[in-house]
Amino acid sequence: MAILKIARMGHPILARRAETVEDPRDPGLRRLVDDMIETMRDAPGTGLAAPQVHVPKRVVVFFVSAARAAREGDGEAEPEADVPLTVLVNPEIEPLGEDQTLGWEACLSVPGLTGEVPRYDHIRYRGWTLEGEEIVREARGFHARVVQHECDHLDGVLYPQRMTDLSRLVFASELRHLAAADEAAAEPED
Ligand code: NI
Repeated sequence: MAILKIARMGHPILARRAETVEDPRDPGLRRLVDDMIETMRDAPGTGLAAPQVHVPKRVVVFFVSAARAAREGDGEAEPEADVPLTVLVNPEIEPLGEDQTLGWEACLSVPGLTGEVPRYDHIRYRGWTLEGEEIVREARGFHARVVQHECDHLDGVLYPQRMTDLSRLVFASELRHLAAADEAAAEPED
């Protein structure tokens, strides 16, 4: 296993469409995924897509702890159990409903920054495991957000390209200022 170098915004590998994997059971793919998982854990991150480690293939890995989902979400839509470490080969996403919610995202390829991004609240996703079995799941809230973010990488899309208000793209270390301003704006006047 090895910790791989992560491509950063501006590298062309992050802007192109990744290629479909012919055989999810390819032993070479398992080595790549092992290295992606080690790289994600070292960073640390909650997900990683193969193009982020300079491999133009349709493969993502992610993990969502229930505690993290509860912290990021509105509570009701969040899973009560951890979403286990998941490897998806050739994933596809289908939105279930039109509703989108703004939420803060960060990306290992856009270090230091965080931005508020609209994502579908409720999706169905499918893909293949390294054993060649199909995974089909429904996801809501932060879980759905993570999957949409990772799968965007496979189409050459980084989260700032999804943002509708670029004044909400800030350094993570300064986010507290925006949070304080938002709170002040939300105070009822009396
Ligand atoms: Ni990312």
